[in-house]
Amino acid sequence: MKILMVSSEAVPWAKTGGLADMVSALSIKLANLGHDVRIVIPRYYSIDRGALKQLPGAMGTPMGAGIEEWSAVYTTVMPETGKKKETGSSPSGQARLPVNVYFIDHEAYFGRDGIYGSSTETDFLDNPRRFMFFCRAVFQLCRKINWFPDVIHAHDWPAAVAPVYLKFAERVPGSAGGFEKTVSVLTIHNLGYQGIYNKNNFDYAGLGWDAFYKAGFEDWSMLNMLKAGLYSADKLNTVSPNYAEETKIQEHGFRLDGVLRYRSADYSGILNGIDSDVWNPASDKNIPETYSAKNMAGKAKAKEALQKEFGLPRDAGLPVIGMVTRLTDQKGVGELFGPTYGSAWAICREMNLQMVLLGSGEHWCESEIMNLTSHLSNFRAKIGYNEKTSHLIEAGSDFFLMPSRYEPCGLNQMYSLVYGTLPITRRTGGLVDTVENFDENTGSGTGFMFDYLSPSSIYDTVGWAVSTWYNRSKDIENMRKRAMALDFSWERSALKYVELYKQTQKAKGIIQ
Ligand code: ADP
Ligand code: GLC
Repeated sequence: MKILMVSSEAVPWAKTGGLADMVSALSIKLANLGHDVRIVIPRYYSIDRGALKQLPGAMGTPMGAGIEEWSAVYTTVMPETGKKKETGSSPSGQARLPVNVYFIDHEAYFGRDGIYGSSTETDFLDNPRRFMFFCRAVFQLCRKINWFPDVIHAHDWPAAVAPVYLKFAERVPGSAGGFEKTVSVLTIHNLGYQGIYNKNNFDYAGLGWDAFYKAGFEDWSMLNMLKAGLYSADKLNTVSPNYAEETKIQEHGFRLDGVLRYRSADYSGILNGIDSDVWNPASDKNIPETYSAKNMAGKAKAKEALQKEFGLPRDAGLPVIGMVTRLTDQKGVGELFGPTYGSAWAICREMNLQMVLLGSGEHWCESEIMNLTSHLSNFRAKIGYNEKTSHLIEAGSDFFLMPSRYEPCGLNQMYSLVYGTLPITRRTGGLVDTVENFDENTGSGTGFMFDYLSPSSIYDTVGWAVSTWYNRSKDIENMRKRAMALDFSWERSALKYVELYKQTQKAKGIIQ
């Protein structure tokens, strides 16, 4: 199959969260299964053009109000793809298909710092135009390279209008042609971000005002880009089965639960995988010594190194609670670090443990965390983004705290499980599909979970984990073994996406 991933993020070029990991990992796995997968993202200012190849000629994209946008297109091949495979389970010498990546280079829209915003302008005012243009340019790109995909797979609100263009501008009589047999899939990674803007921006879409209603853009007189995608894409999915169910009810639907119920026959959940070349304690180059369930010496070394890196006393007997997170409300950081009511202070003051955090995000939270570190001797934090340190936290901690308010899938809890670091999480979203709560009677489970998000429930659940650590070490050991044996590899999920693509083609009558 020819599959085009349309996304605003993809590692290693542009990342603010798990979306970037998912898009690249899924693409690589699909290519390994023999599909022709290509990715298109904007060429942000931070992406070095010198490392890419420019396609000859400028590309014109017709937008509304008679505007034609001119851009350049750059391309490269995803690292580690398109090479002969030397090791591993498949027959040696077998070529892996390349994943070609295309970058839409529009200086006025993307030649600036930040993907969606900057420190002074958290959400760029022209975001609706930037990403509508991007979604339209995708079709011009296909014409330019004379490659027409079987499936357009769009991710989140910045790409959500691509399926709309397919349905209302490209797969219609009288269009420029080429996309008659193309189907679309839209994946929701985070329903909390929808791309809602003033409807004055809609002229620029060039779809005509009847499409404002017909394609589902209209949202209480505003323009909602994700909602239009949810109305118009041929199939929808999200990144865990449980989140797919949750989003159909009001509490988790961010006002779009009605749309998702309406489309429920076309809406499913597929759990993300993790990239086991990158996140694997048995081969991880970012930790002092690799380890496995059979030989845990490396985990003890990682704990020592973690305590050293964060300036904490080296002590194997103290439980270390780790966190790697975006500091936003979604992650439950209000309940943990909110001035006066957050429970991190009491957790660190009253329990015999150490706590380390790596994260960046909302300013109030960053400063509150730094404030706590100056008053607590057992809490240490680094504000910023650092891949290497995130590996050390996953490996060197005993528990991983993730009190998310909502979590479409969550990658960090899966990383921690395979590193034998037991998650302490809220029972929500993909956390339900990946973590099993500890049962004191049987000793079963892989983590510690709570339902209601509040400072005291976080406090109590951390307390439960810590008392289990001190009083029932055998149970902890067994939970670790169980966690490390879990399989979150991408292969299984990639096959489910292939199945979803085929179902979509069948539903549109393109294949039998
Ligand atoms: P989300 O995408 O909602 O932030 P996920 O758990 O799906 O949540 O993915 C988060 C990804 O971002 C993980 O790969 C995690 O390791 C990484 N990450 C988040 N914050 C940091 C940070 N400060 N430093 C390094 N990696 C981080
Ligand atoms: C989003 C979600 C996260 C998910 C990631 C990748 O960022 O917040 O839960 O794991 O997308 O799909």
